[in-house]
Amino acid sequence: MKKYLVTGGAGFIGSHIVDSLVNAGHGVTVIDDESSDAHKYFHYNDKAKYYKYDICDYDRIKGLFDNVDTVFHLAAESRIQPAINNPLKAVKTNTYGTCSILQAAREAGVRRVVYSSTSSAYGLENKIPNVEIQPDDCLNPYSVSKVSGEKLCKMYSDLFELETVVFRYFNVYGERQPTRGQYAPVIGLFLEQLKNGQSLTIVPDGEQRRDFTHVSDVVSANILASTVKMEKYGEVFNLGTGTNHSVNELADLISKDTVMIDPRVGESRETLANIEKAKTVLGWEPKVKLEDWIASQL
Ligand SMILES: NC(=O)c1ccc[n+]([C@@H]2O[C@H](COP(=O)([O-])OP(=O)(O)OC[C@H]3O[C@@H](n4cnc5c(N)ncnc54)[C@H](O)[C@@H]3O)[C@@H](O)[C@H]2O)c1
Repeated sequence: MKKYLVTGGAGFIGSHIVDSLVNAGHGVTVIDDESSDAHKYFHYNDKAKYYKYDICDYDRIKGLFDNVDTVFHLAAESRIQPAINNPLKAVKTNTYGTCSILQAAREAGVRRVVYSSTSSAYGLENKIPNVEIQPDDCLNPYSVSKVSGEKLCKMYSDLFELETVVFRYFNVYGERQPTRGQYAPVIGLFLEQLKNGQSLTIVPDGEQRRDFTHVSDVVSANILASTVKMEKYGEVFNLGTGTNHSVNELADLISKDTVMIDPRVGESRETLANIEKAKTVLGWEPKVKLEDWIASQL
């Protein structure tokens, strides 16, 4: 049995990682201040220990890192539009907060930190499919603050020999996805709108394409990243499926009743992951197909 720490472990992806670690018989500590307003509920596992602390409060959190083997760092302002509305909060949580986690891990002698970053690092300028060697093209405070966290991970590996692994997730969906508010991720939002008998709200023109990735595939990559020995740390890995769907195609799988809403700024036109690096280095393979999962929900 090992001891793990999951930040953001009461949220969507983090709570699935907590469950997976607990099911494997490990001890799990969670730091989550429950500040996300995208959730109707937070998620708790009876066998994990929860601390409702802010990751930026270094003095308060540092004592929780003793004897921890790996930290899974997911706590964040996790959505683009709220970060555009409040850049200070996004940068504080995502950049300062990540430094606080890395520093606490370093001071406590934690072996490895697995960091959840985002495909929005690729922006608009890069050619599809996105490969890890492409330059950053940050279009909004969310991607700037998350990519700053990536750079901090690399720096902590290079300078302080803390093992870090950086994942860029491509639109994660699945059980427990956030459904509250107009900025909830699109799959959760559409399923909620269907349930409530409402029209699906499409951001124009609906032809923007996303590589939708099931949460169980993201969890399996995180678990692999905590164990696989690597030649280099601080490296970035894409986690997607290598296929994408337009928002209109997604809506078609759910309901014919759709309505166009106001356009949004600061978002990519298309995301599509090249996942060769994660396949080769981690031995990871995504398993869930979007169409199958949507069909299971209808
Ligand atoms: N869901 C996706 O499609 C996606 C895509 C790319 C990257 N990511 C990244 O994955 C991670 C998890 O995303 P998610 O979708 O599960 O989001 P989420 O909002 O469900 O989870 C984040 C959790 O962090 C907590 N949190 C926020 N600020 C905090 C703070 N200052 N201190 C302590 N806890 C705090 C929230 O209460 C929430 O429970 C985030 O880092 C996000 O940037 C997610």
